[in-house]
Amino acid sequence: MNNLLEQIQRSKEQIEKFSAEGENRAETFRIHFLGAKGVIKSLMSDMKNVSPEKKREMGQLLNDLKLLAEKKYNELKETNLPTGQTGGNAYTKKDNLIDITLPGEALPLGSRHPISIVRNKIVSIFQRLGFAVAEGPEIEDDWHNFTALNLPENHPARDMQDTFYVSQNPDWMLRTHTSSVQVREMEKGKLPIRIICPGRVYRNETISARAHCFFHQVEGLYVAEEVSFADLKQTLYFFVQEMFGDAVKIRFRPSYFPFTEPSAEMDISCLICGGAGCSVCKHTGWVEILGCGMVHPKVLENCGIDSNKYSGFAFGMGIERITMLKYQIKDLRLFSENDLRFLKQFTSAV
Ligand code: PHE
Repeated sequence: MNNLLEQIQRSKEQIEKFSAEGENRAETFRIHFLGAKGVIKSLMSDMKNVSPEKKREMGQLLNDLKLLAEKKYNELKETNLPTGQTGGNAYTKKDNLIDITLPGEALPLGSRHPISIVRNKIVSIFQRLGFAVAEGPEIEDDWHNFTALNLPENHPARDMQDTFYVSQNPDWMLRTHTSSVQVREMEKGKLPIRIICPGRVYRNETISARAHCFFHQVEGLYVAEEVSFADLKQTLYFFVQEMFGDAVKIRFRPSYFPFTEPSAEMDISCLICGGAGCSVCKHTGWVEILGCGMVHPKVLENCGIDSNKYSGFAFGMGIERITMLKYQIKDLRLFSENDLRFLKQFTSAV
């Protein structure tokens, strides 16, 4: 008889302390304690040996043990999450409470796209010089993308930029440069104008390590009285120093754009070899970074500005190109592949 009392007590302790790993722990518990051949059934059958005066007391104890086992079984079932999902969960179903003392799950911090980092840097440099940011539509009409910029229909210079046209309307296209935004600003007629136009542009080019069918530009425009080429040079010189550092040299080469006269392309001394010659600068010591020039009087007139009173300069650069130079990235396609291993390497500081 004493033996049964001891067994009930031992079982009670075992039930309270029961812990097992894994998905099947509730079931393991049930079979062991509550199953047809389980501990409680076997203790029940021992009741027949209990003396009549003790039967009531023992029966009560056994009943309590059974209730305890059932309660424990229900708890185990509720918290019976698949292995691996039990840890780090602030929500415990057991008592339906949230344990606010548990550490939260930190969300991984994203990083800016390198193109955005460099665009923001370019914009902030020009903002310090008093340039405001202007934006315009990516689907443009012929006038703003070409004609107003001194590229009338059938002008051979239109071939310089392979254009995606909108099939619905032959007058519409994806803008090939953000010079279209400059036209829109000049047409507003509020002078002087000092703007930069960052944005995405599209050209029908075969995708390769050096070319893509879309890329990003920052173009700049300054129109006022007596703006000279010296102003242009000084502005761009300041930009290069802020962007790449004091040691970098600049040079201008004569060039051609229909919307500027005179026109130039600007090179910077190679950042990799410092001008000694390497594969990045194709052993010339210089890399081209932008096109620029004095706004063609015809463009001013097309936009309703008196070209006898006002003059202006304009420039345009590709953000991808600057970014590739800055971070020594060799393949343009990396920018649009969304490969996190690539994107994670850039911090906001340039
Ligand atoms: N719009 C020219 C381009 O996309 C760049 C440029 C802008 C050149 C302004 C001169 C002046 O290639």
